[in-house]
Amino acid sequence: MPANLKQLLDRQKEMPGCSLQQAFYKDPDIYRREMEKIFFADWIYACHISQLAEPGDCETFDIDTESVIVCRDQQMKIQAFANVCRHRGSRICPSGSSKNKRLSCPYHAWTYGLDGKLLVARLMPDDFDKSEYGLKNVSVEVFGGFVFVNLSENPAPFDEVKSKLQSALAPFEFENTRLAHYESHPIDANWKLTYENFFECYHCGPAHKEYAASHSLSLDQNRRDSYREKLVEQAMDAGISTERVEISETMSADLPQYYHHRSALYDDFKTASEDGQPVAPLLGSIKAYDGGASDIMIGSLTYLVAYADHAVLYRFTPRSVDVTDAELFWFVRADAAESDVDLERMKWLWHVTTIADKKIIEANQQGVNSRFYQPGPYSPMEAPTAGLIEWYLARIS
Ligand code: FES
Ligand code: FE
Repeated sequence: MPANLKQLLDRQKEMPGCSLQQAFYKDPDIYRREMEKIFFADWIYACHISQLAEPGDCETFDIDTESVIVCRDQQMKIQAFANVCRHRGSRICPSGSSKNKRLSCPYHAWTYGLDGKLLVARLMPDDFDKSEYGLKNVSVEVFGGFVFVNLSENPAPFDEVKSKLQSALAPFEFENTRLAHYESHPIDANWKLTYENFFECYHCGPAHKEYAASHSLSLDQNRRDSYREKLVEQAMDAGISTERVEISETMSADLPQYYHHRSALYDDFKTASEDGQPVAPLLGSIKAYDGGASDIMIGSLTYLVAYADHAVLYRFTPRSVDVTDAELFWFVRADAAESDVDLERMKWLWHVTTIADKKIIEANQQGVNSRFYQPGPYSPMEAPTAGLIEWYLARIS
């Protein structure tokens, strides 16, 4: 560990429960270490199986120096490869979606099967052994139709995440959903400020009047609990789990984290639309609108907010030490007719909320950049953010 990081970590230990020192939000060397210790070491959401419906459907996921190709092969298996040609290293697939019978490099046309095997290497010597030049595999896991990749050579197991969240996710049947809408919002701030913001709802009252008008999560714990009894009853009737799955305290910082909690919307809200009325058909096996919202953390870096009729997945992708993309993916039932999904009303809440978050997170970074900035204490309502920072410090130590 670099000496200056050791010093920073020691100093940070002297201020438990406080935000990080400035260098953590600005230093390019710390950023590089974070890529290695966090983003190249953890499970990250890449795409959804509905985007890989047929053999040859491919999606890329790009982060920092890395790009991953995820595709459905001829046997309908989901494969993930480093998007790096084994000839001289060119990117093979462009960013985004593509449909390919084979994966052909645009540089000298080395061509790979959807299983990653090298099939064609033009004009190479007779004794060239193609079997030694297959694409490098990237670890991949599918959970609830969400496809996760892990760039580590020895990825931490994902099994505990799956087993702990299985019953919470089951009624939504996310494997039978489709991507209905996608947005990416570039935020001029270090990635940790975006995560810190997302982990706490202390700011929801002052910053998100739209969210606070419907979600009891914006209240302190005592007032929130007063809405819970009714929700538990309604959720049971609807077939939705309200069982809280805690981030395990005994869990090593090296393992992927998980979390599930369902909280109440206010009385007249069936879902997260402006008027509280449904925006799409009920998901999965859900029988009724219970008036709840599930916050779910799948692995340490991916979050889902699930209502009875749609869900929004969040991915925060660092682009540099001071730019982060907040990416949002909206899901509805796969068999919902276009006419049964009111896209505008569905995307409204998390669109306006993310625009507001962008503004406050960027203002946060501007203040953090000041010579007058010093770490400040998290409030009790920001306990999850304080926990996130503890996890982060353990991970990069
Ligand atoms: Fe891909 Fe040459 S770099 S074929
Ligand atoms: Fe927010």
